[in-house]
Amino acid sequence: MPTPPPPGMPDDPVAAALAECRFALVAAALFSGLLSILALAGAIYMLQVYDRVLTSRSVPTLVGLTLALAGALLIQGVLDIVRQRLLARIGAMVDRRLAVQVYALSVTIPVRVGARADAMQPSRDLDAVRGFVSSLGPTVFFDLPWTPVFIVLCFALHPWIGVAVLAGCLHLFAITLMTERATRGPMAIAAREAATRAVIAEASRRNAETIAAMGMRQALAERYGEVSSRLLRASDAATDAVSAYGTVSRILRLALQSGILGLGALLVLMEQATPGVMIAASILMGRALAPIEQAVAHWKSFVAARLGWRRLRDTIRALPDQPEVLALPLPRRTLTLDQVVCAAPGSREPILNGISLSLLAGQALGVIGPSASGKSTLARVMAGVWVPLRGSVRLDGAAFGQWSDEARGRFVGYLPQDIGLFDGTVAENIARFRPGAQAGDVVAAAEASGADAMIRSLPAGYDTRIGEGGVTLSGGQRQRVALARALYGQPFLVILDEPNANLDMEGEAAVTQAIRHVRERGGVAVVVAHRPSAIAAVDMVAVVREGHLQALGPRDEVLKRVTVTHRGGGRP
Ligand SMILES: Nc1ncnc2c1ncn2[C@@H]1O[C@H](COP(=O)(O)OP(=O)(O)OP(=O)(O)O)[C@@H](O)[C@H]1O
Ligand SMILES: [Mg+2]
Repeated sequence: MPTPPPPGMPDDPVAAALAECRFALVAAALFSGLLSILALAGAIYMLQVYDRVLTSRSVPTLVGLTLALAGALLIQGVLDIVRQRLLARIGAMVDRRLAVQVYALSVTIPVRVGARADAMQPSRDLDAVRGFVSSLGPTVFFDLPWTPVFIVLCFALHPWIGVAVLAGCLHLFAITLMTERATRGPMAIAAREAATRAVIAEASRRNAETIAAMGMRQALAERYGEVSSRLLRASDAATDAVSAYGTVSRILRLALQSGILGLGALLVLMEQATPGVMIAASILMGRALAPIEQAVAHWKSFVAARLGWRRLRDTIRALPDQPEVLALPLPRRTLTLDQVVCAAPGSREPILNGISLSLLAGQALGVIGPSASGKSTLARVMAGVWVPLRGSVRLDGAAFGQWSDEARGRFVGYLPQDIGLFDGTVAENIARFRPGAQAGDVVAAAEASGADAMIRSLPAGYDTRIGEGGVTLSGGQRQRVALARALYGQPFLVILDEPNANLDMEGEAAVTQAIRHVRERGGVAVVVAHRPSAIAAVDMVAVVREGHLQALGPRDEVLKRVTVTHRGGGRP
């Protein structure tokens, strides 16, 4: 469902990036043209030697011609090096232009398209595009326009030679088309299987401890192996096609090369051409056919790059960057949900069905309910992570989309159920990796979450590296650091999804204190919880059951009703 790009967004970012390199591209094309002309030096030399030196028997002419040829070859070598470097630079430039956008896609895809989508695909697509652009592949496109020129020159030598060369070109071209047909399908399959394999590898890396503990390695390796062999089969099919057609085209070219000599010899015997023409014809034909033969050789990486380019373009179009938005003031008054219906990204199956509620500055809402009732989903919708299918989530009357991502970070604090810390120092994690974060703000957030003393006791205090996901911290420590991150910068809206799941009594008291503090400074807090102790500091309680609000109201009233009607309500 690609949507048209908003105004100001390039319609095709890859094309736009290439267009920015147009000077380098034009230079590479010019060099290719010069190289094509210089490649004739050998033919001209041979013609001259045959037609002039051998008839005049002049050594000085031969020496002069040879020196000229040496000069031409030298220039040819230099131009070739420069051309290859230019192409490598163009590839790097395209990568640099798009790398940040591709990174943004890799974090947008999981929340917009769904967890099953392969977030790393755009990165592989960009690799394919860069790989082709920086190879000698593009020179095929630069050299191909010269093929007709060489054919015309062949016709100038003798019509029969022209006809023979033209027929040879058409045959090779037909082989190129057949290569295209034979590689397209397998290449698409290979790309798909590569994506699946990357997902398995990533998940295995993340859950390495689980795999080790329960001896799952063999079974997972088999799954990985199956996908790998499908990938290799498809890739082999493409490679086989390219090499088979490549061989056919090479043999055909060799045959043509000799055939044209034979034809030339016949013309010489019929006194319609000189021996020099015969040799020149052979060389000219080689030049005319070379780009077509090169095209067959580079076809696989060309198809990969083309697939990547298209997919990248479609992905970027479907998930456009946020358009520039008017800088609204940060919200200060209300959070309102109106008839919110919400599904997981990439799904139309509602998890929440018609949730309406409103919270004022200074209020805190406790969300309780059985497992899988939709509490975390509600938290995600309120934090603006998931976009509702229908209905709206508004802050001071404005929907989330009206703030830029950057602004949003200043009024939302979110502690997800799975915590989600990053490799970096404790301070960087708390400050959300914001460059130029103030130490005072970091410590204030840690104090508000009651984590300051714990953090100071770490080996390097706030500068302790915690590893990906915070692996070097205990479960409770991770939760405290993530709570500090949610409170960093005193955001208006603080959403905590089971903040006390891993906490001891002291930690729970800290959460309660933090919620109280958010309320006192005029913020809104939402706390998903199972234990009543965690919602000691809230004034409102919502009971979620099967995606509906079963009850909503002042805390004590709702809790009394829930315990009366469902003894032990929520999770046991
Ligand atoms: N990313 C997702 N993709 C698809 N379905 C999802 C996703 N996340 C949650 N669900 C589904 O939504 C429903 C509600 O899940 P949710 O995480 O909101 O429950 P919860 O109330 O927070 O449960 P718990 O108390 O166990 O944390 C579940 O049936 C779950 O299967
Ligand atoms: Mg949950």
